[in-house]
Amino acid sequence: MPHQSDHGLSRRHFLQGVGAGVAGLTVLDPRLAVSLMIAGEEAGPVGGVRRMGGNENPIGPSPKAIDAVSAQLKGLNWYPYQPDLPLAIHRFHNIPVDTSEGTGWAGLNTTFISDSKVVTGIGSTEVLRAAAWAYLLDGGHLVQANPSYEEIAGAGNKLGERVSVSRVSLTGDHRVNLEEMKRAVTPETRIISLCNPNNPTGTLLSHADLAAFADEIDPRVLIVIDEAYIHFVRDPGYQDAISLSLSRPNVLVTRTFSKAYGIAGLRVGYGVAHPDVIRKISSYTLGPLGMHSNSIAGAVAALADVEHLQESRMVNSTGRDFLVREMSAMGWKPIDGECNFVLADTSADAGPLFEHLLSRNILTTSGSRWDMPTFIRVSVGLPEDNEAFIAAAKEL
Ligand SMILES: Cc1ncc(COP(=O)(O)O)c(C=O)c1O
Repeated sequence: MPHQSDHGLSRRHFLQGVGAGVAGLTVLDPRLAVSLMIAGEEAGPVGGVRRMGGNENPIGPSPKAIDAVSAQLKGLNWYPYQPDLPLAIHRFHNIPVDTSEGTGWAGLNTTFISDSKVVTGIGSTEVLRAAAWAYLLDGGHLVQANPSYEEIAGAGNKLGERVSVSRVSLTGDHRVNLEEMKRAVTPETRIISLCNPNNPTGTLLSHADLAAFADEIDPRVLIVIDEAYIHFVRDPGYQDAISLSLSRPNVLVTRTFSKAYGIAGLRVGYGVAHPDVIRKISSYTLGPLGMHSNSIAGAVAALADVEHLQESRMVNSTGRDFLVREMSAMGWKPIDGECNFVLADTSADAGPLFEHLLSRNILTTSGSRWDMPTFIRVSVGLPEDNEAFIAAAKEL
């Protein structure tokens, strides 16, 4: 019998929710999650569990982010009505920015950004949802790959039957099929949602292919390129899509601080696009009323912490190689991905493996979530997490 909490929800069900990743967590009442953590029978985060299901950063947050959050705690009584984070993001990407000083809310001296090319959000989730609302509120069609990250489609579906979604299968080698996605576009299409590298496969599209694709799409259609995992791409010559978002009228690139920057708990993400797109999307975000002072301070500091980012990449790179090597040695077929997780075909129903890993307190994500029942997705952890995962998998 799985352990039953006071709330009547079994620990196993809770863990499956966490294992489903960030999207899975949103279905849980956060108060319930917190009390379950407190009630956990083992020590450590979420009761001693190895969290290898949500693609977070196992090395922890940037120490500079922790210092920055601590330093501003005494100012928590004030609203954070300054554009510090969008300004830092413009500068980080070398995007020219026009500012002026003036009187803002409540008589405050405020810096104003004209024609901002950046929208910030409560995680990139807020930016992705706002994009869905901005472009699909009156109805329309969305094209995305399958499997891929479902945030925009999920938000679109909640708008009712006037929103339809085409999910385009990946190629035989698990790559996003841009040719087929182009063919799926109709006069009703308002958004094409791409995740690059793709979650859950980790596969990467080339910059040239993305640029050529963008050239062929009607500029009235918003192309969203979710680069949540771009920092883990190993090819030092790889060109990300920020340049596309700055040179086209219809490309939104989203980024998150939840992965390589290690501050998922602060909930910060952003999007870069043409000012018209940013204006349209910003009108559906909470804007200055959404972002916490902690989040702003932590994200600004994390953005500048090159060392932490480098360490995140190194730990991930070594861990990913280890997992791929060991999985292959076990006869699995890991997909050659570029993220902080590995999706692997175990060639058998992966359900019992997922359950067995849970019994060893190792959270992963079952491929059944994407209708890939023989697959399992595991986030790269610290070396001891990766070793524990492989050791537990070998027990079956
Ligand atoms: C592809 C992708 N985009 C966005 C997100 C959400 O990130 P955030 O924490 O910034 O809301 C995730 C989270 O797992 C993700 O995998």
